[in-house]
Order: sequence, then structure tokens, then C-alpha cells
Amino acid sequence: MVESGETSPSHAPDELLSIGEMSRRTGVAVSALHFYEKLNLIASTRTPGNQRRYPRHMLRRVSLITVSKRLGIPLADVQEAFADVPLTETPSHEDWQRASRRWKRDLERRREGIERLERELTGCIGCGCLSMKACGLLNPDDALGSQGSGPQRLQDLEDSDD
Ligand code: FES
Repeated sequence: MVESGETSPSHAPDELLSIGEMSRRTGVAVSALHFYEKLNLIASTRTPGNQRRYPRHMLRRVSLITVSKRLGIPLADVQEAFADVPLTETPSHEDWQRASRRWKRDLERRREGIERLERELTGCIGCGCLSMKACGLLNPDDALGSQGSGPQRLQDLEDSDD
């Protein structure tokens, strides 16, 4: 169960969490938290004994990363969504609102893309020609035609064998 990262009367906003607590509260493996930190999606400070400590607001970041993963959103896109949210200080309500608007736009773009693919796939299942020249799914907007003549996909494969 992922916690929201909101403060409650029993949690001071400046409370620091160990990586074990972060893992337990978010349900995310310690190794994944290390990885997210390497990507600057989350950040920690160190104790004199060199142990990681995370501010409470990192719980919200980890929760959003978890939701994004479930939606199939790549971590690179999560990085973009977090770009304007302060990493090392507690983000303001406005910081999260801005990220939320950006997130919403991205999700709408994805939904439109999936709906377009769904329409094209439905048409192609009925058609079945799978023409490299005409099929919108295999060659959207004749993108391969702009790369030159001949079998572009085969050439890509051959080039990658070099
Ligand atoms: S299979 Fe015919 S247009 Fe895609």
C-alpha cells in the first residue's frame, strides 16, 4: 500500500525516513529506490554514518512513480513531469499543481495516441493488406518513404548487424 506523502498530525514535515521505511511505506524495493535516486527522481541526505535519509515529501514522488509505472509511462517522462518540482526542498502546493497540469496534458496525448492506434488497428484487421507503402500502422505518414527508396526496415536491420 502506497502512502500519500501528506503530512498528518503524527508526522512532522521535516521527519527523515530511512530507506527501509521508505520501502515499507511505499511498497517499492530498496534497489528500485536506489535506482530512482540515481536518476534524480528522488534525493536523500546522509547521516554521519553514511546512511540515506529521505524527507517525507519523497513519499509522494515515489507514489507518483509507482502509479506511472502501472500506467506504462517511461521513467524519462516522469523525469520531465518532475522537472519543475524542487527536489531538495519541500515542494509547494503550486509546484505540484504545475506538475499535475503537465502530467494531465501528457496523459491526454497518450490517450489520443492509443485511440488513434486502436482505430487504425481495427481498420487494418478488416483490411489485412499489411502494405509497407499504404498501411498506416506499418508505415505511418509514409515515414519510411522519406528515408529513401527500397526496404528501409530491412536496411535498418542489416545496418544494425554491422
Ligand atoms: S492492413 Fe491494410 S491498411 Fe493496414
